[in-house]
Amino acid sequence: MTITTEQAAASESRPAAAGISGPVRSPDEFSPLREVVVGRARGAFIPSPRDISAWLALYSHLGAAQVAEIQGGALPAQVVADTEEDLETLVGTLRGLGVVVHRPAEVDHTRPFSTPHWESPSGMYSYCPRDLTLIVGDTIIETPSSVRARYHELDGLRELFQRYLRAGSPWISAPKPQLRDELYEIGVDGLPALGEQEPAFEAANVLRCGLDLFYQVSSSGNEFGRIWLESVLAPRGYRVHPVRDVYPFTHLDSTISLIRPGLVLLNPERVTEHTIPSALRGWDRIWCPAMRELRTHSTAHPLSSPWLGMNLLMVSPELAIVDAAQPDLIAALEQRGVGVLPHTLRHGQALGGGFHCVTLDTIRDAPSGVDYFA
Ligand code: ARG
Repeated sequence: MTITTEQAAASESRPAAAGISGPVRSPDEFSPLREVVVGRARGAFIPSPRDISAWLALYSHLGAAQVAEIQGGALPAQVVADTEEDLETLVGTLRGLGVVVHRPAEVDHTRPFSTPHWESPSGMYSYCPRDLTLIVGDTIIETPSSVRARYHELDGLRELFQRYLRAGSPWISAPKPQLRDELYEIGVDGLPALGEQEPAFEAANVLRCGLDLFYQVSSSGNEFGRIWLESVLAPRGYRVHPVRDVYPFTHLDSTISLIRPGLVLLNPERVTEHTIPSALRGWDRIWCPAMRELRTHSTAHPLSSPWLGMNLLMVSPELAIVDAAQPDLIAALEQRGVGVLPHTLRHGQALGGGFHCVTLDTIRDAPSGVDYFA
């Protein structure tokens, strides 16, 4: 039997055969979840802050003397085992809800690599698939992280993204940053800061809401990165709203969480009445109750603050996966008619990732091109 080129192309791109249900389609943070990536802990390596890009990303609130004492290194076996178990529980819940779950391929992040400008003694991890890939509607965007150790982090997702590409998803990458020493500055306070020599940002600096995106300008995303993102998305009808002076450190998702159209969760230590992004001013607010710090501290220097407790994953506008250790937040959500599935990531704070960070929603049941702020 002979087959035509068209038939060959059609069968190659047949998504069902490839374990995906079609091209990516995830225009927001809350529409009903259909397909998601859940990270993994095995193979992780915490980069040494002797590299200034790691100091900036992981410990930018600590001075030179304090970071000099931090080694970095592979995670203790118990931390890996506990985390794999917690992630498996999350995967089980999501599958039970009918969500298709993908996992990154195993990557050994302990291996060194280099470019003409620097050497990195290791990679980092596949724990937070949220961090480096931005899904905007039907498009996969690889973002230009300022962290040298994260340069090859998406290796574990390549095969999956190739499958989505075959199913019809555009897959693009920002210009690969050079990450030369000049990109990193030491401020008058003695702390590292991100410069503006080239576009640099991580996907987790961004929240998506239909045609509107919120981009946090901070140590993990510069103004030049926002300009690049806007250059790609504005011609397609998107608006990129800068979020400035809210939180100077990494990522937006323990500062603002979009719960459903018209309802936003805000971090009261970081956001004020005056700094709520203007597009969100008309929405109902939940000011996040104080976090309860109940988790196992597996390191002296956790990679994130206790506010990781508000880093939640919306499974639909009516259902959230939330840190089980935060009963006040859970009650506040339930009061607004949001059901909660409490889950645990025992080492989430140590590893710098809650339920939003450890997931990457690739397909949500949502119409594209919705203007939630019309
Ligand atoms: N830097 C934030 C905090 O300490 C945590 C952000 C984590 N987000 C992520 N996508 N890894 O509160």
